[in-house]
Amino acid sequence: MATSSSSSSSSPSEPAPSTRPSSPVAGASRFTGSRALVTGAASGIGAATAQRLAAEGAQVACLDRDRAGAEVTVAAITAAGGRAFALECDLLDRPTVGPAVDRAAAELGGLDVVCNIAGLGGLVLDEDLTLDQWDHTIGVNLTGTWLVCQAALPHLLDGGGAIVNTTSTAATNATPYASAYAASKGGVIGLTRSMAVTHAAAGLRVNCVAPGPTDTPIAETFLPPDGADVNLVTSVILPFGGLGRPEDLAATFAFLASADAAHVNGHVLKVDGGQRA
Ligand SMILES: NC(=O)c1ccc[n+]([C@@H]2O[C@H](COP(=O)([O-])OP(=O)(O)OC[C@H]3O[C@@H](n4cnc5c(N)ncnc54)[C@H](O)[C@@H]3O)[C@@H](O)[C@H]2O)c1
Repeated sequence: MATSSSSSSSSPSEPAPSTRPSSPVAGASRFTGSRALVTGAASGIGAATAQRLAAEGAQVACLDRDRAGAEVTVAAITAAGGRAFALECDLLDRPTVGPAVDRAAAELGGLDVVCNIAGLGGLVLDEDLTLDQWDHTIGVNLTGTWLVCQAALPHLLDGGGAIVNTTSTAATNATPYASAYAASKGGVIGLTRSMAVTHAAAGLRVNCVAPGPTDTPIAETFLPPDGADVNLVTSVILPFGGLGRPEDLAATFAFLASADAAHVNGHVLKVDGGQRA
């Protein structure tokens, strides 16, 4: 299975990505006939998840504000024999989100799976955090996730389905200098659990994945800011046992989206190699 390229963003003080063998593609046809929308599909975890779902048979709409990156993911999927198309949408451009989701559903002939993976963040001193930075982080990670969920609902409720959102161990465990990011990701947990119980009777499952430090470009934005207590940051954020790999997370998104997780609903699944165990 093709996977996205990693950022190799580790600094000398950070552990390198793990060298353990890749997880096998379990149940390689779990998504045959499924129609999936993946946000953040141009890079990192979203790109790997789009490829994983496609490798298991799904037809995938690859949404991202980075159209060129989404096209690279689509090319990797089609080169591997899968089916996908790119969908350009900036989640901060709110009026365009619903139409983009509708377009994905129209081109796929419906929706069975939605993985909300687009996101951004970083470490900022509370004293330096601007309202614009706060709004930007909440706008993409929380409001963007909600807008996609809301727009996808009529399509998913047609016949059940699964939403898998993305939180972070920054929300499930205390992380310094991450007020906006942790708040946005904590909000994702709240909306995930609320939607899970609201729509369970209709057969829709809503879960979220909480990645720990993972080897993608976003890791570069989680370095200690000027003026930070570096020891505080490294003691909490540096993983042991190696950084996660995008494909480790992709396997988890695929599990929660699949019938293997048919009785898993409203769950927050931490994937951090035991860092915050
Ligand atoms: N990598 C980690 O260590 C880590 C840890 C915890 C949680 N996460 C979460 O995992 C998710 C994926 O991150 P990643 O590590 O793959 O990072 P990444 O930077 O490789 O990918 C993020 C993707 O989101 C897209 N995106 C950002 N803003 C957008 C917007 N306004 N509209 C549409 N697309 C937008 C980017 O273009 C990019 O393709 C994020 O939600 C992130 O918060 C990552």
